[in-house]
Amino acid sequence: MFAFTPAFEAPTGSPIRELFKYLAQPGMISFAGGYPATDLFDREGLDAAAARASQQTTACLQYGPTDGLAVLKDQLASLMTRRGTPCAAQDLLVTTGSQQGFDLLLRVMVAAGDVVLVEQPAYPATLQALKLQGADVVTLPVDHDGLDVATLAALLDAGTLPRVPKLLYTVPTFANPTGATLSLERRKALLELAARYRFLIVEDDPYGDLRFDGAALPSLLALSDQVPGSRDWVVHFSSLSKIVAPGLRVGWMIAHAEILRRCVVAKQTVDLCSSPWTQAIAAEYLAQGSLERHLPRIVDAYARKCRALCDALETQMPEHVAFHRPAGGMFVWARLKSDENAADYLRACIEKNVMFVPGAAFYKDKVDPAALRLSFAAPGVEEIEVGVGRMGAAMG
Ligand SMILES: Cc1ncc(COP(=O)(O)O)c(C=O)c1O
Repeated sequence: MFAFTPAFEAPTGSPIRELFKYLAQPGMISFAGGYPATDLFDREGLDAAAARASQQTTACLQYGPTDGLAVLKDQLASLMTRRGTPCAAQDLLVTTGSQQGFDLLLRVMVAAGDVVLVEQPAYPATLQALKLQGADVVTLPVDHDGLDVATLAALLDAGTLPRVPKLLYTVPTFANPTGATLSLERRKALLELAARYRFLIVEDDPYGDLRFDGAALPSLLALSDQVPGSRDWVVHFSSLSKIVAPGLRVGWMIAHAEILRRCVVAKQTVDLCSSPWTQAIAAEYLAQGSLERHLPRIVDAYARKCRALCDALETQMPEHVAFHRPAGGMFVWARLKSDENAADYLRACIEKNVMFVPGAAFYKDKVDPAALRLSFAAPGVEEIEVGVGRMGAAMG
């Protein structure tokens, strides 16, 4: 009846959100969502920040600048500097979650048919955004050290891609869904390839601060200063969603000034500006040093939860699942050793009141039907142990 655009004639919604209906099942233990733990939100710090923000009536109740409130941009630039990437407020655009940043970038950079490289398995919202944009998505394999950069190099050197890629999307630190972190050598090699073949690396980094094991690695953005010619080819996204609260919807992007300027124009038509109210709260929260004070509590809790999940899988289901312990983030990527279809197994699990996301949601092609993603962030340690017990029982 209606004349929709081709991309929206028969769109498919998020496969993860489809699972949400089961969350209402009484007693359900969920390893499914990538939601932070509600009890780890810094209510006190955020309430104090909100009280201070509300004093600034004009700044936070009026429309704000499209590129973000100056006070927040200053705080985010300091946060990036503390993370090892010195950056100035003007290098950065505040977005309504980092999800919006990716959408803006696609509007500005990617036309239908453009080749975009994506690590696989990948964050489903990225795959969905690329599909809606009509990009020609080429998937690249990953292993425990993240994106297989050697395979990418071979592909580029052989010139077998349909066109020169416009951009490559990666979550190099504690990836969603695999939990993998790109090694230092691969980071350097990837930057060299971007400089040589002139494609943008989109570094999506919502989880980098959630490290509970091992030493921190420099972000691709930070490292780009050491790899000649690569700095202009990195677009960096980050977010307060996983380290403060997703309800703020505060993300940001850092990119070459020519890209940023165009993203600001795109944002003008999308939402005029991100909510000045939550931006002001975020700015106050950061200015008071609350993130530094609270983050160790979150990281410590996730370390315990991750250990609980991995230990329980190892002790209760050793013959059923294989997985790799992540050093941070929110996710354990696992595989059913039987090669059984994880979607069938999920149905049995839902009957036992436990759920996860079957791996198929994270693939564009070459699906591994036996893969599954378990998030340890939201449930408590005891729930995690009970949940894995139920998963074991669902094996029959
Ligand atoms: C890899 C990745 N990128 C981006 C996002 C979205 O973050 P935001 O809340 O900042 O939009 C998520 C959320 O789960 C994510 O896992």
